[in-house]
Amino acid sequence: MEKLLEVRNLTKKYYVGKTENKVVDNVSIDVDKGEFVVIMGASGSGKTSLMHLIAGIDDFDEGSIKYMPASGVTTKPPVDDTVDFGRMNGKAKAVFRQRNIGIVFQQQCLIPDLTVYENIMLPLMLKRRPLMLKRRPAGNGKQGKDIILRLCGQFGLTEHIRKYPSQLSGGQQQRAAILRSVVNEPPLLLCDEPTGSLNSAQTKRVMDLLSELNQKGQTIILVTHDTKVAVRGKRIVYIEDGHAGGELTFTEAEGAGQERVDKKEQELMDFLKERGW
Ligand SMILES: Nc1ncnc2c1ncn2[C@@H]1O[C@H](COP(=O)(O)OP(=O)(O)O)[C@@H](O)[C@H]1O
Ligand SMILES: [Mg+2]
Repeated sequence: MEKLLEVRNLTKKYYVGKTENKVVDNVSIDVDKGEFVVIMGASGSGKTSLMHLIAGIDDFDEGSIKYMPASGVTTKPPVDDTVDFGRMNGKAKAVFRQRNIGIVFQQQCLIPDLTVYENIMLPLMLKRRPLMLKRRPAGNGKQGKDIILRLCGQFGLTEHIRKYPSQLSGGQQQRAAILRSVVNEPPLLLCDEPTGSLNSAQTKRVMDLLSELNQKGQTIILVTHDTKVAVRGKRIVYIEDGHAGGELTFTEAEGAGQERVDKKEQELMDFLKERGW
């Protein structure tokens, strides 16, 4: 397996007055290309902070975050060496993020004045013509349109493509937000409680979409509290007060369908119980 991301001894501090608070405390994680890693942990344990660091949205204090170009991440100009966040400023990390990382948060941030189609088109326009948003994406328009129509067809959004976000259900909005995050095929998709505000039927459809993307090769790191969501992953990383509190790699449980899911759920429950869940 090709390594995509290497996090080593990562630490992020906040100060409340003079009191130091390590919200991410000496965390090390490797993620391979094509993996589906789930991050779990109590509320306030530092999961979102960790995701922001991995996305390059926030700066860290100690340790390192490196992306491996051999895994498919791209830079301009291309580099042979690792992409080292510790050596990049905020702007360089933002450019890298735009090319390589799709982000889905709990509160989907679709732009209300754009239709579903226009929202999903946005990353394609930003990627190709960062300073010419007002112009049509010349030459790339047809190709982009085909991709969006195909994705919307695959994921049950065809009839909603001309609607505005306010005209969609929460689950439909979240699926549109996920499609927007993957339309330019970023090597890594970061999801922070993407189903946190959805009912169980909506959650299932969103997770079906993520599972399908993962099966097609998309690397995913996902934060969740929901064990039914977590069993979609291949590996669980537990975060406790900012530090890594153990990992669980699901054994490839025998049997298909529900039986296999039940076995994974049992394995996960045992793992979480040991950690006082
Ligand atoms: N900007 C900030 N300044 C100070 N403390 C913060 C800031 N952001 C987050 N924290 C603290 O960091 C801890 C972890 O928060 P967070 O990463 O959001 O946890 P989680 O996503 O696991 O619920 C919390 O105690 C939170 O209060
Ligand atoms: Mg959080």
